[in-house]
Amino acid sequence: MDKIYTVLMVLAALILIYILWCFIEPFILDMDRAVLKRSPADDPSADKIIIRKLPMVTDGISGQPDLRFFFFSDTHAEWCPVTSKRLCNAIRKAHSSTPLDAVIFGGDIVTYPHNIRRGYKYMSDVSNCCKELGIPFYGITGNHDHGFDDNSSAPEFFSLDNTEIALTSHKDGTTVKLAGLTDSGRKNRIWYSRTPCKGSDPVILAVHDPDAFIHLDADARPDFMLSGHLHGGQMKFPFRIEFCVLRRSDKLPNMGAVQGVYNISGTSVFISRGLGCGILPFRFLSLPEATVVEIHL
Ligand SMILES: [Fe+2]
Repeated sequence: MDKIYTVLMVLAALILIYILWCFIEPFILDMDRAVLKRSPADDPSADKIIIRKLPMVTDGISGQPDLRFFFFSDTHAEWCPVTSKRLCNAIRKAHSSTPLDAVIFGGDIVTYPHNIRRGYKYMSDVSNCCKELGIPFYGITGNHDHGFDDNSSAPEFFSLDNTEIALTSHKDGTTVKLAGLTDSGRKNRIWYSRTPCKGSDPVILAVHDPDAFIHLDADARPDFMLSGHLHGGQMKFPFRIEFCVLRRSDKLPNMGAVQGVYNISGTSVFISRGLGCGILPFRFLSLPEATVVEIHL
């Protein structure tokens, strides 16, 4: 009887520690760096999606990048213990070491539309910070960014939804297209087969849900892609139950691409874990993340 009691007590203690940690983890910001190198193009006629996991910083890449971004995603501002003040401090710090070319937001301002004012306040704080530093601030729509009634205080970032802008490489003046695809939300899902880009310039595509890649025509695949949406699983379970059971409709994570840097069929992809918490206010083994992304053409 004593043994059973001891086992139960240990189990209860472990569950308590687990729950406590799930509450604490959303407060810990992982400010990291991803170095993306352009990959030699695969056979553009190849339909098969091939995924290779890469380290956040690939060996052998040195020197000044062509472009340098600060990328964050999935604020879900209802419960985002990484406050806008902390995020702005991280932006200032990143910009002070080497100037940033842009701050890019990867979508999902809030989880529920009625909380949008809180989300707009968060984005306005980031926008003011970017203005103060003289950094352009771009953003795209996430699958939760729909049904807002109040647009009176809409965030002051430039929307990349289904549009492109031209940037210039610091190294050799090459023109690079930074483009975005909107997310139509999950109810009336629209997948796009083309990006807004035309011509032969290298393309960096910002799109909330990385599954968008699967739906692009093979000859429309970008050179680089920046995404969020998956929250790194948000709460990790054994055997990847969070994706295999709970999010079976997400294709790329079930093929192995969840967070970090990948080569996906010739495209260099970064998938952020995001900052906030969607629906459940917990994280487990999936720290909130904001990332300096360095692009090497
Ligand atoms: Fe999200």
